[in-house]
Amino acid sequence: MTKTFTVLFVLALAVGVLALPSQGKLAAIFESGKPGSKNIDGFIKFEETDNGINVSLEFSDGLPDEFGPFPYHVHEKPVPDIGDCGPFSVGDHIDLTTAPNTFNCSAVQDKSLCQAGDLSGKYGKLVSDDGAVAFTTYTDPFLQFDGSPKGLLNRSIVIHMLNTTRYACASIVQFTMSADDQLAKDFESACKFLGQSSSALDDTIKLKFYGYYKTATIGKCTASKPSFFDFVGREKWNAWKAVDELDKEEAMRKYIELLESLNVGWDVNWEAGADEVKNKESRERARIGGVAVSTLACASDEEEDNDELDRQDIFYFAKTNNSAELVELLKSNTIDINAKDAQGFAPLHWAADRGHLDIVKILIANNANVNILTNENENPLHFACISEHRAVAQYLYKCGSDPSLEDNDQLTPLDYTNDGFKEAVLHS
Ligand SMILES: *[C@@H]1O[C@H](CO)[C@@H](O)[C@H](O)[C@H]1NC(C)=O
Ligand SMILES: *[C@@H]1O[C@H](CO)[C@@H](O)[C@H](O)[C@H]1NC(C)=O
Ligand SMILES: *[C@@H]1O[C@H](CO)[C@@H](O)[C@H](O)[C@H]1NC(C)=O
Ligand SMILES: *[C@@H]1O[C@H](CO)[C@@H](O)[C@H](O)[C@H]1NC(C)=O
Ligand SMILES: *[C@@H]1O[C@H](CO)[C@@H](O)[C@H](O)[C@H]1NC(C)=O
Repeated sequence: MTKTFTVLFVLALAVGVLALPSQGKLAAIFESGKPGSKNIDGFIKFEETDNGINVSLEFSDGLPDEFGPFPYHVHEKPVPDIGDCGPFSVGDHIDLTTAPNTFNCSAVQDKSLCQAGDLSGKYGKLVSDDGAVAFTTYTDPFLQFDGSPKGLLNRSIVIHMLNTTRYACASIVQFTMSADDQLAKDFESACKFLGQSSSALDDTIKLKFYGYYKTATIGKCTASKPSFFDFVGREKWNAWKAVDELDKEEAMRKYIELLESLNVGWDVNWEAGADEVKNKESRERARIGGVAVSTLACASDEEEDNDELDRQDIFYFAKTNNSAELVELLKSNTIDINAKDAQGFAPLHWAADRGHLDIVKILIANNANVNILTNENENPLHFACISEHRAVAQYLYKCGSDPSLEDNDQLTPLDYTNDGFKEAVLHS
């Protein structure tokens, strides 16, 4: 079967790892287990710009939804080694004199009337979803990098529960890059390189990159296995599944090693050029190849994303389990039930693949050929077996679909199944 893996890995951008603080900036970093952090993993990063301080924040875990939304503020003093977030350790909000110490400075007020340190008062509380807070940025014109009373250096961030109790805290520190952050940076660079690269890599290699990429950025693959007809989706799913036991750092490392081993012009010193044109070309190719590439979705989400589904024809009804429309269509008597679509599949192949037993019955009742072959010599039973649709396989077998027919890979339908399934089909 023709597999078209176009630019699978032009997925590289806009992911959490890319948002890590880097050198020359200030950040309050929460790390699960660190004194003061509770179970929280996340960061609030501060960067000086001409218009004020750019604040970006992201929390991946550890904020208990039931205590939020969470107010958070810049407090006067850094967090002591023991991690105490109380008033004797970290003091009160900075810039207390500007406004009284309430949690009431709402986002609709004139922000200049708020305490400079009251970040949630000015920009909204942290709303946790299963412990995580999505990546957010804003520019604050009132804070300063250092210098009292609005300076950030040598202060801390305290995250409060909604009832005002102090929940967790972290010092605001000059950020120096750790080994993990260096890894994230190299990974980002490698992703960018592949995104811009026009070098022709073979499909096996692309799929490896894809698997490592998904594992590095998402972790375990929890999507269900895509339909057999979704070749690309299936291959991608397999590639991800094959490596999803790795931890994220290990997956980043493998991704980087693989790219280095190919000798295609990338090393850790590579700088992402403003190579917009090439980048555009590769995106163009991705579209022409027909693979809908969505950055964070599991492979199977991309499955149905093609023009074909706009067609209200027999293939579409078979695929989508629409028996009412199918019956209606068959009444017209003008339909060739054994017709094949552009990929060489008959309606019965589709229904068998998707496990739509009712459709299979209707098609067979209307004289569909139970041994109709694809260009690769698969009959409908091949698909029911590969996709593990037991009831459909049993029905097809009873109706005469041949379990010993070899496809172009010299495999029979039953070669694709396990003993239990085989037994169930042959002795139902
Ligand atoms: C940071 O703050 C602490 C407590 O307020 C103070 O003792 C220390 O001198 C400060 N350090 C710097 C570098 O300003
Ligand atoms: C918020 O403001 C209201 C009055 O506008 C006041 O009654 C309330 O105590 C304030 N809340 C806090 C936490 O200070
Ligand atoms: C700061 O944030 C604004 C948006 O809030 C963005 O347009 C700008 O590019 C950022 N500046 C820097 C230096 O990151
Ligand atoms: C806020 O809620 C927490 C958890 O339920 C509780 O331990 C704490 O005492 C509460 N604080 C206030 C001020 O009510
Ligand atoms: C297909 O449609 C039938 C009813 O026509 C229904 O019983 C069956 O559950 C459907 N199958 C799926 C997979 O939705």
